[in-house]
Amino acid sequence: MTIQWFPGHMTRARRQIEDKLKLIDVVIELLDARIPLSSRNPMIDEILQGKPRMVLLNKHDLADPHITAEWVRYFADKGLKALPIDASTGSHVKDILPRAKELFADKIATQIRKGINPRAIRGLIVGIPNVGKSTLINQLAGKKIAATGDKPGITKGQQWIKVGTELDLLDTPGILWPKFEDQLVGYRLAVTGAIKEELLHVDEIAFFAMKYLIEHYPDALKERFGIDNLPTDLENPNEVLEVLEAVGRKRGAVVSGGRIDLDKASLIILRDLRAGKIGRISLEKPGQV
Ligand code: G4P
Repeated sequence: MTIQWFPGHMTRARRQIEDKLKLIDVVIELLDARIPLSSRNPMIDEILQGKPRMVLLNKHDLADPHITAEWVRYFADKGLKALPIDASTGSHVKDILPRAKELFADKIATQIRKGINPRAIRGLIVGIPNVGKSTLINQLAGKKIAATGDKPGITKGQQWIKVGTELDLLDTPGILWPKFEDQLVGYRLAVTGAIKEELLHVDEIAFFAMKYLIEHYPDALKERFGIDNLPTDLENPNEVLEVLEAVGRKRGAVVSGGRIDLDKASLIILRDLRAGKIGRISLEKPGQV
């Protein structure tokens, strides 16, 4: 889904989240495990106004597990417990409730002290488009509730989804905008598919991805596309381009005269990368950003 975010959209999205915050106890902030910072809303701390929150690193199945472990430590240093999950299969989704209970423990204790039966914890999932919010809501609900591709600014009646007896979840997630100012962030979002090809040209995105793969995942790249030699001078764009062309040649992205169809080769690279076919790839490390 592509959302062209304009200031009006952002204000409306923010207001909607602020309205929902009044109803909830715990915020579940969903990030993409491959790009935890690039997939994070730049104003998140201000928007959440100190609400108890947990961070979920979604699409962990596609991310480099060693780098995800580094991200978990990174967030821990900032006082946030981050849980890697895979919303599409439900892997580690069961860890969300215990974490929510930990965050809500003081309030539960107070309720018990006052002789009140503790009520279910009320949670809200927030995150940028395509990070997996609807997939997670459906996974927690155990059925299809949220339509993937919810748009900001469209309100519908809110319902609570019962996740067992101890957690109630708002059925509409809070949709947040990503960072735009930084070109690197834009490329990372585009490589993962969080923003679509119309916003940045496909061969630019593939060029960025290829350069990154050559530098950080050379063996996975060689194996996937049967390439023997990779360039050593990454500052020379022609050398990176040659690898893109080699992929195109191997995969039949050739037009008349034997020329490589660069757009087609670019799409092949990006589709393989997004589907995890090159391996589990993370696009940013805590030390790099
Ligand atoms: P959103 O509500 O935050 O906008 O995201 P949504 O749930 O629609 O998920 C976006 C895409 O990400 C979906 O793919 C979904 O299947 C995929 N996805 C969500 N969680 C995971 C995960 O943990 N692992 C993997 N591998 N994929 C996940 P899609 O329907 O194919 O959409 P698209 O990629 O064609 O946009």
